[in-house]
Amino acid sequence: MSTTNKTENVMTDEASDSDRVIIFDTTLRDGEQSPGASMNLEEKLQIAEVLEGMGVDVIEAGFPIASAGDFECVHQIAQVVKDSTVCGLARATKPDIERCAEAIKPANSGRIHTFIATSPLHMEFKLQMEPDDVYQAIIDSVSYARSFTDNVEWSCEDGSRTEHDFLCRCVEAAIDAGAGTINIPDTVGYALPNEFAELITMLKNRVPNIDKAIISVHCHNDLGLGVANSLAAVAAGARQIECTINGLGERAGNAAMEEIVMALKTRSDLMPYASGVETEEIMRASRLVSTVTGFNVQPNKAIVGANAFAHEAGIHQDGMLKHSGTYEIMTPESVGLNESSLVLGKHSGRHAFQEKLKELGFNLGDNALQDAFKRFKDLADIKKDVFDEDLVALVNDEAVRANDRIKLGSLEIICGNVHAEPKATLELIVDGKAATCTATGDGPVDAAFNAIKQLFQHSARLKLYQVHAVTGGTDAQAVVTVRLEEDGRSVNGQGADTDTMVASVWAYVNALNKLLVKREKKAPDAITA
Ligand code: KIV
Ligand code: ZN
Repeated sequence: MSTTNKTENVMTDEASDSDRVIIFDTTLRDGEQSPGASMNLEEKLQIAEVLEGMGVDVIEAGFPIASAGDFECVHQIAQVVKDSTVCGLARATKPDIERCAEAIKPANSGRIHTFIATSPLHMEFKLQMEPDDVYQAIIDSVSYARSFTDNVEWSCEDGSRTEHDFLCRCVEAAIDAGAGTINIPDTVGYALPNEFAELITMLKNRVPNIDKAIISVHCHNDLGLGVANSLAAVAAGARQIECTINGLGERAGNAAMEEIVMALKTRSDLMPYASGVETEEIMRASRLVSTVTGFNVQPNKAIVGANAFAHEAGIHQDGMLKHSGTYEIMTPESVGLNESSLVLGKHSGRHAFQEKLKELGFNLGDNALQDAFKRFKDLADIKKDVFDEDLVALVNDEAVRANDRIKLGSLEIICGNVHAEPKATLELIVDGKAATCTATGDGPVDAAFNAIKQLFQHSARLKLYQVHAVTGGTDAQAVVTVRLEEDGRSVNGQGADTDTMVASVWAYVNALNKLLVKREKKAPDAITA
C-alpha cells in the first residue's frame, strides 16, 4: 500500500494555517445509510468516478465490515480511483480494521477511518464501556490501523456532546497513536455554529499535539445547521469538511457539499479558504445521486434545486435584465447549470451522437454506443426536440438495463374513465424466455405492476413510486423510480421513456433485477455507523 496520500501532499505541517479545505465526501457511506438510499456496485462506481472527476480530495467509499457488498464496493473503488484518497470506515475493533485495510489495499492513496463514541450517553448506553476502556480502545485501534497505513483518521462519535476534558484526552491520545486527521462529528446535528466553532477553538488551545493533525468536522443536519456548523468550524481552524452530495445522509442528512464549496467560493471575501472542487461539476453529481437513490432534490434547495436560479417575479426579472448581480450571487454556469441545449435531431449521425456523449462525460464502448444510438433514434422519432438532459437519461437508463435478467417485451394498457377496470397486457422476458399475461388493477400503474407479479412471482413490497419529467413539455421523457423492499433489503430501480407507463414497468423490472443480485449476495446483518 502506498504510504503517500494526496491530502498529505496538499496539507503541510502548518495545516491549520493553510487556506486549503479538504473535501471529504461520504455520500457512498453516510449518504447510503439514509433509509432507502441503497446503491449497487455499478452505481457506486459511477458516483465515485464523478466525485474523483470533480476534484474531491477523499472519497469515503463504504464500511467494509458491514457486508460483502460494502467490502466489494470499497475494494473496487480503490482499484479504479487514482486521484482521490479512498477511505473505508471501521469501528475500533481488529476485525473491522483488518477488513478495511484489505478493502483499501489497491488504492493509490488509501485511508482507514476508525471511530468510537466518546459522549457519556453513547459510552454508557450504546457501548456499555467505561471511559478508561474507550480511551484504551482509541489507542489500540489507531495504532493497529497505523500498522496497515500511515493515513489514519480517527473520529469521536457524538463528539459535540462529549465532555471537554475527556475529549481533549482522547484527541491527544489518537494523535499520539498516529492519527493524522482528527474528525469531530456533530453526530446528532445538535450543535449551534458559535458553539461548534468554540469547540474547535477549545481543542486547538488545549490539546498539546493538535498541530500534528488536521482537524476535520462531520456535521449532521437535524436542525438544518450542518453547513453553517461546518463553515464556523473552518473559521475556527478545521481544515477538512465531511459532506455529501445533495446533503444525503442519516436522518436529516449531512452537510451538503455543493453548499459548502459554493459558500467558500462565493464568500471568499470573508472566508478566504478554498476547496479543490470544480464547481461546474456540481449539477452532474447532484443529478446522478438523485437518480440513483430516487431522492428527489426539493425545488428550492440551495445550489441544486430546480428553482435555485429561477427568477419568476416581474420585479426580479426586470432587475436581472438590467444587471444579473441584482438578484444573482453566483452564476448558474458556475455550478454546471447551462441553458438546456437542443442537441441532435433525427437526422443526426452516429459520429455527432458519440461526440455529444463525450461532451456530456460518457465514453461508451462499441456495443453500448450502438444500443444507445438506436434508442436515441427511436426517441428522436417520437420527440421533436432532444436535449442534453434527454441524452443523460437515455444513457443512464441503458446502463441500468445492461445486465438485467428480466426485461420488458411489450406492454399494452387500457385505462381512462370509459372502461370499468384498467387492464395491462404485458410480455416479460425472463432469462431469455418470453411470457405474457393480462392483469387488472386500481389504475394503469397498479394493473401493470400486478401483471409483473403474475409473470415473476415475488414477495417484495413497493415502497416508493416516483415520476419525474426530464425536460418541459408534454413530450418529455419520464424518469420513474421504484423502490422495492424484501427481507430488509431495499433497492431502487429506474426507467426512462416518453411513455410514463413503459418507464414505470422498466423501473419496476430494474428494481426486481437488483433484488435478484442482492439475493445472490446475501449479506450478514447490516451494521451502520
Ligand atoms: O455521524 C457520525 O458520527 C459518523 C461517524 C462514523 C463519523 O458518521
Ligand atoms: Zn455521520
